[in-house]
Amino acid sequence: MYHKRISKFPEDFLFAAATSAFQVEGGIDCGGRGVAVHDLQPKKPGITDFSVASDHYHHYKEDIALMKELGLKAYRLSISWVRIMPDGESVNPEGVAFYDRLLQEVVDNGMEPIVTIYHFEYPQALVEKYGGWLDRKAIDDFERFATVLFENYGDRVKHWLTINEQDHLLKISGRLGFPEALTGQDYLKAAEQANYHMCTATARVIKKCHELLPTAKIGPVINPMPALAGSNKPEDTIAAMEFNELSTYYITELHCRGEYSPLHWKYMEDRDILPEIREEDMQLMKENTPDFLAMNYYLNQTVAKSQKKEFGYHDKAVFINEEPGIYKIVENEHVPQTDWGWNICPEGLKIAIMDFYHRYRLPILITENGLGAYDKLENGEINDDYRIEYLQNHLTQIKDCIGMGYPVFGYCAWSFMDLVSGREGMDKRYGFVYVNRNNEELLDMKRIKKKSFYWYQNMIKERGESL
Ligand code: BG6
Repeated sequence: MYHKRISKFPEDFLFAAATSAFQVEGGIDCGGRGVAVHDLQPKKPGITDFSVASDHYHHYKEDIALMKELGLKAYRLSISWVRIMPDGESVNPEGVAFYDRLLQEVVDNGMEPIVTIYHFEYPQALVEKYGGWLDRKAIDDFERFATVLFENYGDRVKHWLTINEQDHLLKISGRLGFPEALTGQDYLKAAEQANYHMCTATARVIKKCHELLPTAKIGPVINPMPALAGSNKPEDTIAAMEFNELSTYYITELHCRGEYSPLHWKYMEDRDILPEIREEDMQLMKENTPDFLAMNYYLNQTVAKSQKKEFGYHDKAVFINEEPGIYKIVENEHVPQTDWGWNICPEGLKIAIMDFYHRYRLPILITENGLGAYDKLENGEINDDYRIEYLQNHLTQIKDCIGMGYPVFGYCAWSFMDLVSGREGMDKRYGFVYVNRNNEELLDMKRIKKKSFYWYQNMIKERGESL
């Protein structure tokens, strides 16, 4: 079917960019901040920690002025749980005041703040007290934290995001504070219990948000990697469907329907990893579903049937390469890769938007999309044409989707400025603004606009007419 393309993005489309607190702020000893789980994790050799990051904690006014110059309609940021509640329980007025100033600065500069409540930064104190997400008490503590945010910032924040990339989080034990000894089947069982607690906590926080802020909208941040079938063999299409179910839908079925996906349930039963469930939690999830789905999209996967006969028990893998007997990841000659081996497939974003809308009929906000690359500062300039091409191709898919009738209402490029990548330090840069430091030295931390800054500025101005 041929679809008539729209000439421009809608006038109220939220052209935005994103960051997360621990990746940009630094200032880990400032303002009474507590210790987060990731502060204590060993770093890969040669890679910086998060203690200074892009020093946004001290440079936020300068950075927000640059956001305004870029023309952003919205800025997606996260709030550090350990600045607000250093011990995970009691409120730190200095932390509350910091985000009050920061959010006010965003609003005063004419942008809408989009706030992620929990972006990978978990209080170490809660892990020490009761094991964190392994225990139901984590549900109450998450609700308490979110309530402090709703009460203090609800007058300025209209779009709230609950948990960033729950699936990803569950596969990185270092961010959850799970005991090191937890491996194999025990790890999978613990992750299923944590997943259940996080889904229950999400429903509680959605309920609280709707009670306290009736006009605000709230949704979870998912990270789909929609699978392509490795060949035209029917069994590979089925393997791709099973991959999608076990890598993303297993969470969104709980968020959006308050039910376990049947395939996920069978997967857990077969491996004897079922979590403890309460009827009242399932009811709560059914009654408190999201207002929209927030989607981070970087890459997709190509998947084929795995012919193995035995079960596998994975070990804290970030990307699961194989579920023995179900699927395995295969190469795709039509899909190029980044320097870090991430598939570049803009059409995958369209597939994700279509699939999720068909399933849940919820509006969609793209909360992350971007290219991590080794940028070079040469004669005071960064010519990041590769990033422009990447963003352009993905935005074109979104424009097409809107033309086809899918309600995508915003796009947050990742990231506004260079920050410390989750696992790759400062070398893997994503920003429109270069931050003059590297893994070894802090240098002068000067902010330098890249070529992509001017490209995005113009794209926002013309509302994507030339795409
Ligand atoms: C997402 C996260 O997983 O991907 C971000 O929400 C992260 O925090 C981004 O930075 C890119 O991943 P990485 O590992 O390249 O930093």
